[in-house]
Parts: sequence; C-alpha cells; structure tokens
Amino acid sequence: MNKTELINVRLNDEGSAVIILDQTLLPNEEKYIELSSAKALFEAIYTLRVRGAPAIGIFAAYALYVLARQIKSNSYDEFTGEVLKQSSYLESSRPTAVNLSAQLRRMENLIKNPPSRNIPEILDLMREEADKIYNEDVQMCRAISEHGLSLIKDGFGIMTQCNAGPIATSKYGTALGPVILGHEKGLKLKAFICETRPLLQGSRLTAFELGRIGIDSTLICDNMASIVMSEGKIDAVFAGCDRIAANGDVANKIGTSSLAILAKHYNIPFYIFGPSTTIDLNCATGDDIHIELRDSTEIKEMFFTKQMAPNEIKCYNPSFDVTKNSLITAIITENGIFRNGLAP
Ligand code: MRU
Repeated sequence: MNKTELINVRLNDEGSAVIILDQTLLPNEEKYIELSSAKALFEAIYTLRVRGAPAIGIFAAYALYVLARQIKSNSYDEFTGEVLKQSSYLESSRPTAVNLSAQLRRMENLIKNPPSRNIPEILDLMREEADKIYNEDVQMCRAISEHGLSLIKDGFGIMTQCNAGPIATSKYGTALGPVILGHEKGLKLKAFICETRPLLQGSRLTAFELGRIGIDSTLICDNMASIVMSEGKIDAVFAGCDRIAANGDVANKIGTSSLAILAKHYNIPFYIFGPSTTIDLNCATGDDIHIELRDSTEIKEMFFTKQMAPNEIKCYNPSFDVTKNSLITAIITENGIFRNGLAP
C-alpha cells in the first residue's frame, strides 16, 4: 500500500467480513481489523473505529451485505425480514450523519424490489451496490477536492475541525481534500488543526493524515481558535458535514458552529465540504437534526491517565452542533460551489 493511501473500509476477499482501519488506535498504531458479527459491526460505528459521515455510510452498506450472507433461510420473505432487522440495528448505532441511514435505505430498496427473488442473485446485487456506493464516493470526493482547490491560494492558512480527510470517506476526503490536492500541486499551505475535544479527531486523525504527507500543520486546542484567527494566520476555515438541512444549515462535529461564529467576527470565509449524499431534504432546518449525545466518560476519563473530573459531576456531551446557513460562506459538493445555501 502506498504511504499516502490508507484503505479505510473494504470487504475481505471472500466477502465474509468488512476490513477497517481501526481509527481508535491512531496515531499510535495502524491496525486493520476484520468484522463479521452484527455486534462487532455495530460496535465499530458506535465507538468510532470507523467514523466520518461518508465512511460510515459505505461501511454500513458492506456490513449489511456481510450480515445478509449469514442468513440461512431460502425464503425470500424471511431473508428480507431478517435483512431489514439487521439494517435497523446498524442504523441505531449513530443518529446524526445522514449517510448511514441513506446508504442503508439504498441497500434496503434493492432487496425490496429485486429483479428476481433468488437469494444468491440478490446477494450478488447487494455486493455490487455496496461497491457502487464506495466508487461513487471516490468520484464525489475527488470532484469536491477540485472545486475546493479553486478557493485556495499559495501560502493560505486553513483552519479545520475534526477530521474530514481520506479516512473519513472512501478516498481523498472532503474538507481536507483540497488541502491535500493543493499540497500535491506544490502550493505551500499551512493547516491549523483544532484538536476537537473530547474524542480528539483533530489531533489524532487530521494531524496524522496531514503530517504523514508533509503538509505544514500546527495543532491548537479548541479554545485557541480566536487568538490564532486574530493574529491573521487564517485565510479560510474548511469543515466537513454530517447532515445538510434543506435550508443550508449544517450539522458537523461539536465546535464547528463556534468556529463559524468566530470566522464571521474576524471576516474569514467559512466553507463546508460534503458530498450530495450528506444533504437531507427531509430535514427542513438544522433544528430538525438529531444531535447525538455521547457518554460522559469521553469528557471525564478518555485519554487521561487519571480521571480528570469528579465522579459526581454531571456532563453534557453533544457530539455535533448546527451551523446556521447565515454563517456559511459556501457549501462545496461534487456539483460545485454553492454560495446561497443549496440554491444553485
Ligand atoms: O464523530 P465523527 O468523528 O464521526 O464526526 C465526523 C465529522 O464531524 C466529520 O466532519 C464529518 O463526518 C465529515 S467526514 C468527511
């Protein structure tokens, strides 16, 4: 495998398991794990072994295929009933990124309307569909990266939140795609990476991805964004997204909306990058987006050698927040740069 390319999600050769890069071990260990039981596949999404909106959508499609292969019944109705059960189990692992439910729905539609009721044929179609989902994401991320590159000039300082790089997608990434492409084309860019408490996707994952390909990167704590912007080091903020509502409000990793508010204050453009699979036209506004609440141990204990807060302290741990469309300079999808919400 080439040094710049990590294969984040794929099927094993037999099609009996999904192989992922275990992102909970980064940056210390690059370990691939094979998963085939419903419990292990669910747990991988829930604990963020696989994460990032497009990546969990792709993973879920392959996971459903792997689980469907394990069904013993030859009856189409029983087979379909069981697949739909497994699909809702996988879907319940995380609520905010629409890609998870959207890609599962796509797989379900295939099973509900098959050209024949022959189960081996349906399984072949499921595998083809999951590959299609993967390959379409590769194309979309490439196009997003190219559109995004037109927003960058040599010497730009770019602030980013969480991780929207290649390992959060199929390949290339979304918000980090233009930065990586710009670097490949010889632009001298400076990335400022917010560490992204509590799960540290910025310091563990973005710093790892940008560092390994030699992009000039500086890690900051989340509460340092304002001073860094005030010092004139930032020309643009690039962030990914987990769900884009019909009115252009965007849910992304907790802390994204704070950066958008700061960017407006300092007159810095704030861009959101995501494939059209992250748009949810059934969600009218950001207020309709279900924000995932996660365990308090992520705030009090995780990554510390000793617990860092009293046992009895109440914690509030929303995993995402919504950035209002008025704070977003443009949304970049594979279809172009949209400066007025989703209107062309
Ligand atoms: O909780 P995570 O790590 O899955 O959150 C991921 C993000 O918020 C990303 O910015 C988003 O999914 C886009 S990934 C291309």
